[in-house]
Amino acid sequence: MYAQTIDGCMAETIGAAGLAQPTLDAWLRRAAPGLAQLRQGHHDRSLPLVLLPEERGDIPMIEDRAAYHRERADTVVVLGTGGSSLGGQALYALADSGFGPSGDSPRIVFMDNIDPHTFDHLFRSLDLSRTDFIAISKSGGTAETLTQTLICIEALLEIADEAAIGEHFTVITEPRTSPLSALAQRYGMTVLPHDPDIGGRYSALSIVGLLPAAIAGLDPVNIRAGAETVIADLLTGDECPAAIGAAVQCALAKVRDVRASILMPYSDRLGTLGQWYCQLWAESLGKQGQGTLPVRAVGTVDQHSQLQLYLDGPRDKLFTVIQTPVASTGRLVRSALAGNAADLAYLDGRSMGDLLDVMQRATPETLIAAGCPTRIITVDRVDEAGIGALMMHFFAETVIVAGMLGIDPFDQPAVERGKVLARQHLSRITPRH
Ligand code: PA5
Repeated sequence: MYAQTIDGCMAETIGAAGLAQPTLDAWLRRAAPGLAQLRQGHHDRSLPLVLLPEERGDIPMIEDRAAYHRERADTVVVLGTGGSSLGGQALYALADSGFGPSGDSPRIVFMDNIDPHTFDHLFRSLDLSRTDFIAISKSGGTAETLTQTLICIEALLEIADEAAIGEHFTVITEPRTSPLSALAQRYGMTVLPHDPDIGGRYSALSIVGLLPAAIAGLDPVNIRAGAETVIADLLTGDECPAAIGAAVQCALAKVRDVRASILMPYSDRLGTLGQWYCQLWAESLGKQGQGTLPVRAVGTVDQHSQLQLYLDGPRDKLFTVIQTPVASTGRLVRSALAGNAADLAYLDGRSMGDLLDVMQRATPETLIAAGCPTRIITVDRVDEAGIGALMMHFFAETVIVAGMLGIDPFDQPAVERGKVLARQHLSRITPRH
């Protein structure tokens, strides 16, 4: 589904900021525990993250519920935050580049923040009688998601009877008692199970990401099939792309003091994947004083805003440029429209896709020539299988890096402190009714 090239991370190619082959080999050997954890989890069926790609049992449930919302709604609002939202957002970007979905699929709006201004505008923009909601929270206790859900119920009560509220909702949460599951029960909402053994930021290939994807008309089986190709690589070779990527990331951080991991796709449809990646990388690996800063960039846009720093600033970043097959696509540029201006001759007769393609190739070449560590991932297709493969690659790479750093990629202990403090502050506000 994709090819990874790490020549641009090696000293032989980029000089002092790169890795010597023996150094990379040593770090590849250190990838063994993380790789073994993934393989063991597959072998003894204990790690749902690596089993999900082959799972088909839940597909009818996902498709049935997607059909239900597709039939009823013009807009589906997804409520939830962090890992309960970003995977769905990344997948949905395949179907909607910002102008609404194609065909007869409903528009999906992901409300992950709790900005009252945005919610006011959301309600003004909706025909609530043709709007459905999906509230997603693994724990069922996240204050933001509960607030969003209660506020949406209140808005619906302005146009519908209490008995009809449940029809507008699907709730995805762990099958246990929680504030969200109690709310779902009270209003007769359909509850679909969030696997207790799949953490939020690892849930994109579960119902959490696949229900929004299916509502948007994407094929959940193809998403998982793409991910399955990565699992096949993981199970068969010690030098699979995820292990090599993990070794490069770790070696550059530890040996070359690289502090940032910049993901730079050139396809708009992979732009939100960058946000998803940032959460996965930061929340999984930023522990015990370790971790590198994940950064989302989109070519060619960030060539015109960040590239100066990237090329001429400190050599403390690893660039992962994601190239896609875009040459010869899109409309042709006709310089005749500008009176055959000589200075536009270089564009004439080339398509917009040709221009994007040369940019996505020229930028990593420039980075490499400037001595900046640069990995290139070339994706065969920007579709369900392609994004499924990319997601699984980065899941595996993250877990393998965690194994090298000796940290748990699945917890987020530091985040809990802020939540406790927020509750304390809230308790000091007098309730208004
Ligand atoms: O990845 C994670 O674990 C977090 O980002 C959670 O997804 C986020 O905090 C939301 O949690 P929940 O799904 O329990 O509402």
